[in-house]
Amino acid sequence: MIVSRLRLKNWKNFRSVDVQLRNRMFLVGPNACGKSNFLDVFRFLRDIVKNGGGLQQATEDRGGLSKIRCLAARQEPDVEIQVHLADATGDAPSWRYHIGIRQETGVRRAPSLTYERIWKGQELVCERPDKHDKQDELRLTQTHLEQISANQEFREIAQFFDSVLYLHLVPQLVRNPRAFTGPGIAGDPFGRDFLERVVRTPERTKKARLGKIERALTKAVPQLKQLTDMKDEVGLPHLEAKYEHWRPQGAKQREDQFSDGTLRLIALLWSLLENDTLLLLEEPELSLNTAIVKALPAVIYRIQKELKKKTRQVIVSTHSADLLSDEGIGGEQVLLMKPTHEGTEVKVASAIREVRDLLEEGFSVGEAVISRTAPKTSEQCRFWDE
Ligand SMILES: Nc1ncnc2c1ncn2[C@@H]1O[C@H](COP(=O)(O)OP(=O)(O)O)[C@@H](O)[C@H]1O
Ligand SMILES: [Mg+2]
Repeated sequence: MIVSRLRLKNWKNFRSVDVQLRNRMFLVGPNACGKSNFLDVFRFLRDIVKNGGGLQQATEDRGGLSKIRCLAARQEPDVEIQVHLADATGDAPSWRYHIGIRQETGVRRAPSLTYERIWKGQELVCERPDKHDKQDELRLTQTHLEQISANQEFREIAQFFDSVLYLHLVPQLVRNPRAFTGPGIAGDPFGRDFLERVVRTPERTKKARLGKIERALTKAVPQLKQLTDMKDEVGLPHLEAKYEHWRPQGAKQREDQFSDGTLRLIALLWSLLENDTLLLLEEPELSLNTAIVKALPAVIYRIQKELKKKTRQVIVSTHSADLLSDEGIGGEQVLLMKPTHEGTEVKVASAIREVRDLLEEGFSVGEAVISRTAPKTSEQCRFWDE
């Protein structure tokens, strides 16, 4: 399943958003325009259903509803999130999940639902407030989605949100997990447990995944062959690959000799193959060399194809013109973010005429779009160059 449409009201720096999503999306915009806040919506939905945390915990983890609610919000005070879930890009939604959240000032201060509505296809299967909520308003501090006793009919949605994965890989942590002590972070967003996860995977699945990764990497890192895992003398997990070079036999290398980029890419591809729900990738270009950044969209595409019937939706936040230089990226796969005094506006790039014209003329998405997201000062700098 994929999230095929997202509507937001008053979510952080977005006053109003309504966008269609495909199975590969790139979020593009200047610093602090809200890329991470956009991804945070899906993490919020995950936190609602995760381990009984619920709406209260998800809100509290973000510093309360007052931190979530858009500062530019005016008359309509509710924070609203509406998602459509579909089997694949372009399909009619199989589920729709809509909530509104408000926090009254005064005695009852907990954030509570102004509505919760769920459709299965065309059928409305949950509509709140219902008569029980009207008798006991405290019930509105919890969603039905988070309650096992109430969500049987739409548990598929809860399971979908539950498995949303957010990644902000740090190569040093992937490479050298033991240098950083202390408890790991839930969901392992920075990749510290990556090597452990690989080694713990059942043999057949592991082999198949490493094979797929090796094939997907042929363009980005063509020298790398025979990617396998192994444990060293003291039982610590490692990845190993043969690097082809001038010696006819090539040489074996372990992950501590891989480049940051290669290692990060392998961890990223493994995560893509691990599940078939939504993957959120934060600025994957950080500390990668240009050649790998350029190859990234194609590598993601290839892995998505390897999954065949299953769909792993990927939403990538990025600053990188190199990443967007891939000609396979269509304007409908790019969300452009433009900060204004009234909050950040979000548009699908292909819906902007100027961008569409440039794409039709053969420019890449990067060329058509990056100039629109560059800060004004760099526009001004261009005058200096002329
Ligand atoms: N409730 C809110 N209302 C308005 N703006 C907010 C709210 N919460 C955070 N922001 C703003 O969002 C910006 C950070 O967004 P972020 O998603 O981290 O940007 P990016 O990932 O694109 O760099 C900051 O400028 C911050 O002030
Ligand atoms: Mg960010």
